[in-house]
Amino acid sequence: MCECCGQHDHESLYLPEVATVVATKPMTGRDRFFEFTLDGHDLGHLPGQFAELSIPGVGEAPISISSSPTKKGSFEMVIRNIGRVTAELHKLTPGQQIGLRGPFGTHFAMEEYTGKDLLFLAAGLGLPPLRSAINYAIDKRSNYGKIIILCGCTDPSQRLFIDEIETWKKNPSVIIMETVDRGDAAWKGNTGVITTLIPKVKDRINPANTKAFIVGPPVMYKFALLELKAIGFANADIIMSLERHMKCGVGKCGHCQINGVYVCREGPVFTYESITGLLEAL
Ligand SMILES: Cc1cc2nc3c(=O)[nH]c(=O)nc-3n(C[C@H](O)[C@H](O)[C@H](O)COP(=O)(O)OP(=O)(O)OC[C@H]3O[C@@H](n4cnc5c(N)ncnc54)[C@H](O)[C@@H]3O)c2cc1C
Ligand code: FES
Repeated sequence: MCECCGQHDHESLYLPEVATVVATKPMTGRDRFFEFTLDGHDLGHLPGQFAELSIPGVGEAPISISSSPTKKGSFEMVIRNIGRVTAELHKLTPGQQIGLRGPFGTHFAMEEYTGKDLLFLAAGLGLPPLRSAINYAIDKRSNYGKIIILCGCTDPSQRLFIDEIETWKKNPSVIIMETVDRGDAAWKGNTGVITTLIPKVKDRINPANTKAFIVGPPVMYKFALLELKAIGFANADIIMSLERHMKCGVGKCGHCQINGVYVCREGPVFTYESITGLLEAL
């Protein structure tokens, strides 16, 4: 076991293992869905963790694990094409292999939230990591109270997991609302940033018994926090995932530091309470 994380042996911290693409499909013009397998074992992740994907000669990129650990045999990710590594990952086809290190980082402690209501705020690429926790909660439905999911993205062409959102909408034990910043001629749903959905579900939320999860672009956190605080959430009940530039992913290189906190190892999942003193965090 590694003395730093207690989770891996040293060899597996630095040496990638082989992951094979099972399936891949486009989700938007810049986001692709991937299903991967490892040779003979599950990834063994928890909701909210990430893995470092590598292509020899190109580089490595940290990517959140989007499937729930309750799904066995393979795991899923959504990758946005924004640069060198992600562009190469987008070229992968089923059967091709890449390197993988992980899973790394802290997780949404779903096992500790038994009996709680759950409120998910997923904006843009925040949905893939939150989907792992959402499907975990749905698969263990009797462990939780209300499940409220609020999803937002910039416009209808950027919606992720459209089919799965429709399935969640048909689930009577889940409350789900979507919004887009800007609609188009075909869009009949809510228009406005994700925080405009909070007043619509406010009466169904009991902050004293709810854990709220926020993942999305940096600009969203400040406004989401203001709304949640205004309806009475305690800082300890607000859980968020922070994204920083990462290299090693295991607390060695310092690339991800915020005022001495290593986001790769002490995060990416934090309670708001644990980062209120970190000026640069949000
Ligand atoms: C914990 C964690 C989880 C992540 N999960 C996902 C995920 O599920 N799906 C996904 O598509 N991406 C995710 N990312 C972001 C992803 O790691 C980066 O987009 C990727 O590393 C970019 O690599 P690249 O070589 O393609 O781009 P590069 O060629 O290195 O960079 C292209 C441009 O993007 C900027 N950039 C690179 N990385 C980041 C970053 N982390 N934050 C802001 N700007 C950046 C660079 O400065 C540059 O301007 C995650 C990042 C972290 C830290
Ligand atoms: S990414 Fe290297 S220390 Fe966090």
